[in-house]
Amino acid sequence: MTFPAVRLRRLRRSEGMRALVRETSVSVDDLICPVFVQESGEQSSVGSMPGMERLPLSGLAAEIERISALGIRAVMLFGIPENKDDEGSAASQRDGIVQKAIPAVRDACKDMVIMADACLCHYTTSGHCGLVRDGIVDNDSSLAALSRIAVSLAGAGADVISPSAMMDGQVAAIRSALDSAGHSGVSTMPHSAKHSSAFYAPFRDAADCAPKFGDRRTYQTPYTGSREPIREVAADIEEGADIVMIKPALAYLDLIAETRRRFDVPVAAYSVSGEYALVKAASMQGWMREEDMVREILHSIKRAGADMIVTYFAKLAAGMIQNEGRRSI
Ligand code: PBG
Repeated sequence: MTFPAVRLRRLRRSEGMRALVRETSVSVDDLICPVFVQESGEQSSVGSMPGMERLPLSGLAAEIERISALGIRAVMLFGIPENKDDEGSAASQRDGIVQKAIPAVRDACKDMVIMADACLCHYTTSGHCGLVRDGIVDNDSSLAALSRIAVSLAGAGADVISPSAMMDGQVAAIRSALDSAGHSGVSTMPHSAKHSSAFYAPFRDAADCAPKFGDRRTYQTPYTGSREPIREVAADIEEGADIVMIKPALAYLDLIAETRRRFDVPVAAYSVSGEYALVKAASMQGWMREEDMVREILHSIKRAGADMIVTYFAKLAAGMIQNEGRRSI
């Protein structure tokens, strides 16, 4: 009888043994929790994102306290304004919904890292992420608008500006505008390689930001290759991005890994609304177990090389960590 020389099962014999050799962990420090704040109306749930709510300003403090009590240290704010116009002007108003939400978050939890989405699609009548001129999404006039939004959000107290419009030069324009306005300490975390993805559909439902004509393929990265997204990441780093982001996460783990391997900046992954909806739908049907899927997905994203994860499961994951009496899972 010959015995197997290599027995990988030895390292799997007990929970303690498995924990010793585990290569990745997911901690509350890795999680960024998205929050939708709406300017008008009552709190409302999002049909295609069960468990996610659009909160009025009056409900924000309680939600931030819940998030903070779970040990989560960063939130990403998305605004749903009452009024839209061609220029998306509500996005940079001093009394805009996110401009009001930021100090409310700060009041509820002074140490929370406040990240704010900087984009136009929630605020423009076209639903596009840039300004429309002569029927097309115009890059350079959009840069001016995005810069105004960034400065306005920083002025309201945001720690991190997260442009998601995918306009060329947006990071450089925002960086320079922030610096000129005295906000050199405010970071940028662009959605660097933001793919033109079907997985954003539930978010557009939540934030009412679907394009009214055409689609986003003239500005978002195609999912058919890896060179373009890597060039997007490289350009953003060159333009001064502090953290780069790959989005979505689960179908793009190769790009998270490639970005981690090539660059020395922190890498964020955004596990988007469609990824959330898939897991929710399957678990609500009783087909698969939600917590087990969430654990496996978050570990996969960490294993690929992400330092932090924007996820609609942030509260669930933080709750799992807390219930297990641990600092990570
Ligand atoms: C808006 C924006 C989108 C998402 C984040 N910011 C939607 C889009 O580009 O259509 C998607 C996030 C998600 O699906 O969770 N620029």
